[in-house]
Amino acid sequence: MTAPPPGFDLARLLGGESYRFQFGVRRGQPDWWRGQLDVPDSETLAERTRWLDDPAARADCVTWEGAAAPALAETTEWLGLAPGEITPDAAGAAALGRRWEPDWVLLRRPRKTERMEDGGWQEADISAARARMKASINPEPELPSPRPLPSSILRPPGSPRLVAGCVCFPSHWAVTEKLGLTVPEIHGVVPTLNADLGARIATFLDRLAPGAVFERENWGLAAAPDRNQHPRRGLPRLQADTPPNRVWLRLEHQAFVALPRAEAILFIIGVRVAPLAEALADPALRGAFGRQLAAMPDEIAAYKGLAALRRSPAVRKFFSA
Ligand code: HEM
Repeated sequence: MTAPPPGFDLARLLGGESYRFQFGVRRGQPDWWRGQLDVPDSETLAERTRWLDDPAARADCVTWEGAAAPALAETTEWLGLAPGEITPDAAGAAALGRRWEPDWVLLRRPRKTERMEDGGWQEADISAARARMKASINPEPELPSPRPLPSSILRPPGSPRLVAGCVCFPSHWAVTEKLGLTVPEIHGVVPTLNADLGARIATFLDRLAPGAVFERENWGLAAAPDRNQHPRRGLPRLQADTPPNRVWLRLEHQAFVALPRAEAILFIIGVRVAPLAEALADPALRGAFGRQLAAMPDEIAAYKGLAALRRSPAVRKFFSA
C-alpha cells in the first residue's frame, strides 16, 4: 500500500475496545484531491480505464440522470478543467473517471425553501427574498402575498439524492442500484447506521458550506486483492477457513465537497488495498484491530462479511501473535 493520505490515523481507525460506526468527519485538504487528476503513470487510472473500456463493466460503474448535468460541469471546474473539456452527460462522467484517481458520486441537495406565514413551504426565490428583506427595513406596499418570513430561507426536510457517479472500485455495492436514492435510503442496508448516526449525517450534509472539504475514512476486509469488488463479479468472500495471508485490508478515504452553484454535493472515495499482514505489521496495531473485530456486534460483522472469518482459530492466533 502506498503511504496513507495526510491525516489518516490507522491506530484510531483500526483500534478500539468496542465497535460502533464512527462519524469521524474532519476538515480536509482540497488540493490533495485536485492533485489526483491526470496523474502520470497512475496504476489506478490505467485500471479504471480498462473497466470503462468494457461496455458491460462500464454499465455497472457509471450511473447518470439528467439532473446531474450542472453539478458535473461544476465538479470539472472545481478540478481546474476548462469549461466544456468534459461534457456534462453520462459520457462525460466516464471521461472524468478515466482522468481522476478517486471514485465519486454527485448528490443533488433539496432546493432551498422558505416557510410561509401560513406554515407551509415554498421554493425559495433567493433574489426575491433578498428584496423582501430590504423591504422589511424600508417597507413598500406592492410586496407579493402571502409574504414569506424573510429570515427563514431553509431547506425542506429531506436529504440529498444520488444523481450520478463513476464508481469502479466499490466494496460490494453497486452504484447503479443507488441512483435516485437519498443518503438514509442508501445506508438502509447498513445495520445500526441510520439509528446511530443518521441524524448527525443529515445535519452535516445540510450544513456543508460551499467549497469546504471534509474527509473521513472507512475500512473493510476482502478475500481478494481486486480494487473492483462489484457484487456482479462474484469474487470469493471471506470464509472461516480463509488463511490470514489471503486477507486484504481495504482503506477508503472519503471526502465531501458542497459545490456552490449547482446545489450539489460531491462525495469522493479513494480506495487502497494491502495484504492484511503487511498493513498490520506493527504488533500493537494488530492486537488492537483483533480486539475491535472481536467486539463487533454480530449484525455488523455479517454486513461487513467478517462473521465466519473472525471465529477462525487461525485468524485469532494471527491477532494474538
Ligand atoms: C458523514 C457522512 C457519512 C457517514 C458517517 C457514512 C458512514 C457510513 C458507514 C459507517 C458505512 C458502513 C461501511 C462499512 O463499515 O463497511 C457506510 C456505507 C455506505 N455509505 Fe456512507 N456515510 C456517509 C455519507 C455517505 C454519502 C454522502 C454517501 C453517498 C452516496 C454514502 C454512501 C454509502 C454507501 C454506498 C455505503 C455502502 C452501502 C452498501 O453496502 O450498499 N455515505 N457509510
